[in-house]
Amino acid sequence: MSGSRQVLHLFLNRLDGKVVIITGGASGIGAEAARLFTEHGAKVVIVDLQEELGLSVALSIGKEKVTYYHCDVTNEMEVENAVKFTVGKYGKLDVLLSNAGIMDQPGSVLDMNLEQFDRIMSVNVRGAAAFIKHAARAMVVRGTRGSIICMTSCAAEIGGSGAHAYTASKHGLLGLVRSACGDLGKYGIRVNGVAPYAVATSMNSSDEETARTVEEYFAAAGILKGVVLKVGHVAQAALFLASDDSAYVSGHNLVVDGGYSVVKNVDLDFSKQ
Ligand SMILES: NC(=O)c1ccc[n+]([C@@H]2O[C@H](COP(=O)([O-])OP(=O)(O)OC[C@H]3O[C@@H](n4cnc5c(N)ncnc54)[C@H](O)[C@@H]3O)[C@@H](O)[C@H]2O)c1
Repeated sequence: MSGSRQVLHLFLNRLDGKVVIITGGASGIGAEAARLFTEHGAKVVIVDLQEELGLSVALSIGKEKVTYYHCDVTNEMEVENAVKFTVGKYGKLDVLLSNAGIMDQPGSVLDMNLEQFDRIMSVNVRGAAAFIKHAARAMVVRGTRGSIICMTSCAAEIGGSGAHAYTASKHGLLGLVRSACGDLGKYGIRVNGVAPYAVATSMNSSDEETARTVEEYFAAAGILKGVVLKVGHVAQAALFLASDDSAYVSGHNLVVDGGYSVVKNVDLDFSKQ
């Protein structure tokens, strides 16, 4: 590639001709990824429960680039049908961004609600497992050397950065990423995670004022100063893993947390010892 083409490639068409499923694409990180991926030439199928929102995201991006498909990731039949729909429409599947997720309320283990625990596991882990299974089948049967990306969290890296069921589910999801990476490598399929720090979305903010409070709180608690984490930063990390720029990256959990999960005490001053 010539120098000028290389520069253009950084900004344009990094997913030219690729067909992508984004679960949880009606809102937050998933909706932003749908916007970014289509800007880079992808055709996207948004899979979500929120029909009205999903349809409006698809309409705002352009119906020739994005389709909404209603599906509950906890229902394997619906998941299989979502993959069949995508392959029927576009003839193949190159990328799965398994991003749908829910969170429980923080609280003590002593009071843990195990029904809620089961629900979180069924969406965040089982839902991702069902999509990995059916997306990988569609890739293998067509010889597609695809990319599967799961939205984990910095709560997959450390304890204490999320509620208990959520943390357990994201650790489980990261285990699934690594395990599937081992199995699917022989087909040329890559499996990775993206692990964001807290970002204001409808998962944690019901309105703009709460979103501002969430951003201020987590910016203050974060390690990296001068940047507030936004959905666009997370979508950019997913874009890298979806594109051929990451052709030999598999089994990786791409942490987008400004160092939060690897630094314990930022105030230690060794010069005084
Ligand atoms: N926002 C954060 O601070 C943060 C941090 C780390 C990781 N994440 C992860 O990022 C992912 C996206 O979250 P977000 O912050 O954009 O939240 P969000 O609530 O804006 O988006 C999540 C989407 O998933 C969909 N969804 C939930 N259950 C579903 C189901 N059973 N079937 C189909 N769709 C379903 C929702 O309808 C929603 O559109 C999640 O996996 C979340 O755990 C978020």
